[in-house]
Amino acid sequence: MTVTRLRTQASLYLEDTTVAGMTPLIDQFGRVHDNLRVSVTDRCNLRCFYCMPLENVQYLPRPELLKFEEICRFVEIMVRNCGVSKIRLTGGEPLVRQSLESLIEKLLQIPGLDDLSLTTNGILLNDQADTLFAAGLRRLNISLDTLDPQRFQQIARREALDKVLAGITAAQNAGFEPIKLNAVAIRGLTEHDLCAFARMSRQTGVQVRFIEYMPLDAERNWEREKVLSEQEMMDILQNEFGDLKPVPGNSESSPARDYQFADGLGRIGFISSVTRPFCAHCNRFRLTSDGKIRNCLFSQEETDVRSLLRSGAEETEIVAVVRQSILNKAEGHEINSAKFLQPLRPMHSIGG
Ligand code: 5AD
Ligand code: SF4
Repeated sequence: MTVTRLRTQASLYLEDTTVAGMTPLIDQFGRVHDNLRVSVTDRCNLRCFYCMPLENVQYLPRPELLKFEEICRFVEIMVRNCGVSKIRLTGGEPLVRQSLESLIEKLLQIPGLDDLSLTTNGILLNDQADTLFAAGLRRLNISLDTLDPQRFQQIARREALDKVLAGITAAQNAGFEPIKLNAVAIRGLTEHDLCAFARMSRQTGVQVRFIEYMPLDAERNWEREKVLSEQEMMDILQNEFGDLKPVPGNSESSPARDYQFADGLGRIGFISSVTRPFCAHCNRFRLTSDGKIRNCLFSQEETDVRSLLRSGAEETEIVAVVRQSILNKAEGHEINSAKFLQPLRPMHSIGG
């Protein structure tokens, strides 16, 4: 074991992070995994080029999807035994899954679960925002890459900008707070939207986060040159609006670095997975809609928990399998190295 590994692990013992009967999910690099992203479907009503294929989409057969009861049992086991305290529901597009609000209601009853959030493309929010809020959901990330209808069509390969904008308004009216917009940062496209998003953030109070384009697209067209970097985006924004100042209290385990303008208005963040990987602070793992654990977005291997959930396996057996998966987690994603291998599943099937 390397010295750095020992050092990170040693620091864990300084504070007693354990709750009775609970042992956190710690990997061999000392990273504590308390953040689980649960994909509820691989289906989607958009065809974003950085994620899905345009045609011949291979969706999972429905019986392969975890039932809400199975998701809840798994989450409960993770919260009780492993100190998982944050859940984010993802897809595909999670709102295409029927009666999602009933899953939200059930998850919110799990003692020890501190934080439940959802990432959506916003198309169905106009119809569902009130129902989701009534179910108890408060935090929303809405994926929106551009404010221009033509660019929207170019990226999402569907015409739906108006629906998404109506969805954002519906979410604000319903009372969701915070609402964060996620925009994938792509060279040749995002440059034209940076200032528009900044103005929107300044005027409406929504937070905007730019995510560097990662090699997770089904069509495998990602190239490094297509990534618009945090530095380039900062330069464009500061040229137009003056200095951006880091928001105080940015948490280390958050992949985003958030900034505000000098007058305190607006909030812009960057998730710079390509140019400034945050793997060293990663606290996340994923449950796919067909019940596989992925210890990293980019992992080549998955661990099946659906068969355990369906065969009546003991709680301890399920916990052991998850612990092993976390122990096998690689140090980093290697996007920047020659040996990088794109994961077999595209993003819509992993869950963002
Ligand atoms: N690179 C960066 N972000 C991506 N997302 C999907 N695919 C990619 C990619 N290749 C983002 C979506 C959404 C979240 C689910 O993941 O825009 O915000
Ligand atoms: Fe759908 Fe999200 Fe993938 Fe776009 S990024 S195709 S909205 S799952």
